[in-house]
Amino acid sequence: MDALSLFVVRWVLSVCLLALRAAAGGGQGLSYGFYKGTCPQAEQIVKEQVSKIYYIHGNSAISFHRNVFHDCSVEGCDASLLLDSTPDNHGEKDSERNFGMRNFKYLNVIKKALDEECPGVVSCADIVVLSGRDGVAMLGGPHFEVKTGRRDTKKHTTDKDADHALLAHDAGVHAFLDTMAKLNINTPQAVALIGSHTVGRVHCVHLVSRLYPTVDATLNSSYAEYLKMRCPSPHPDPKAVKYARNDPGTPMKFDNNYYRNVMHMKGLLKLDNALYLDSRTKPYVQKMAEDNNYFFEQFVEAMSILTEHYVLTGDEGEIRKHCQWVN
Ligand code: HEM
Ligand SMILES: *[C@@H]1O[C@H](CO)[C@@H](O)[C@H](O)[C@H]1NC(C)=O
Repeated sequence: MDALSLFVVRWVLSVCLLALRAAAGGGQGLSYGFYKGTCPQAEQIVKEQVSKIYYIHGNSAISFHRNVFHDCSVEGCDASLLLDSTPDNHGEKDSERNFGMRNFKYLNVIKKALDEECPGVVSCADIVVLSGRDGVAMLGGPHFEVKTGRRDTKKHTTDKDADHALLAHDAGVHAFLDTMAKLNINTPQAVALIGSHTVGRVHCVHLVSRLYPTVDATLNSSYAEYLKMRCPSPHPDPKAVKYARNDPGTPMKFDNNYYRNVMHMKGLLKLDNALYLDSRTKPYVQKMAEDNNYFFEQFVEAMSILTEHYVLTGDEGEIRKHCQWVN
């Protein structure tokens, strides 16, 4: 076959595959307790490791949760986020959108514990999802069941893929709802997901545009004075670990305090505050501020959609030996 017909055949095949996947909808090939027969202890091992690591380094739980959003948003939950860059490929991790992502090393600790019990069985993509799920529970958030059976991608995604799929720190409500809708996540579910900003931090590089030269009018002015103290320079050194906590009241607790902060215009990102100013999202901010159960319920729905988005299953992809490299 000449190069052109080979190209055409490949193209037709990949279009067919995409169409098949689209027709099958999200999450096809996943199931609850996928490792029941092959590694019955898998979920228990992840949970024990997440808890052990949490007591060494509490913010690992926050990282595990953010990993889920950043992996699943870029070509589905396939552990593409975890691949190290190579000399000729800038991986997702190198994207500015993944600035501040940390604690990747602990995923290798979890992988090792799993491989000691059942070598080569559990995918890094499932480790991302399971550790994220258990991280949320460690922080006092809801516990929920997730399907498993994801496979790891063999494709080297790039920083550009992350730039394209994830929003910048200064995004607005329209772009936010739009990106979420592309993942089949509706408005209340989207508002619940971003309630994740009830934990963790934002680095000064992502804050100063709201503080200097003048304070953003949508930011609480007394809070802005506090943030200026946290970030005194309009040109922070990106390598310096200078940041403000997302929710200074309960920074390590996964609760609905985020919505109360946002109602006082104390959200750190432009988007956080904008959610309370936009008529599409405001009612849900108010409802979630009042009703933690409603927040958790919408959050769990959103997480199940997010974690089943465009996954590799069956004999697609591979089970990586090491989460940072393709086999
Ligand atoms: C789509 C709109 C979103 C934007 C623009 C956004 C942006 C950001 C930014 C700029 C940071 C701070 C990074 C830093 O400076 O260190 C951050 C932190 C964080 N985000 Fe988001 N985010 C969004 C949605 C989400 C969602 C949907 C989740 C979870 C499902 C999430 C989870 C987190 C967590 C847990 C942190 C704290 C990380 C840490 O402390 O290590 N974010 N986000
Ligand atoms: C700004 O924060 C202060 C102190 O927490 C609060 O009393 C005030 O209502 C907030 N202002 C706005 C506009 O929400």
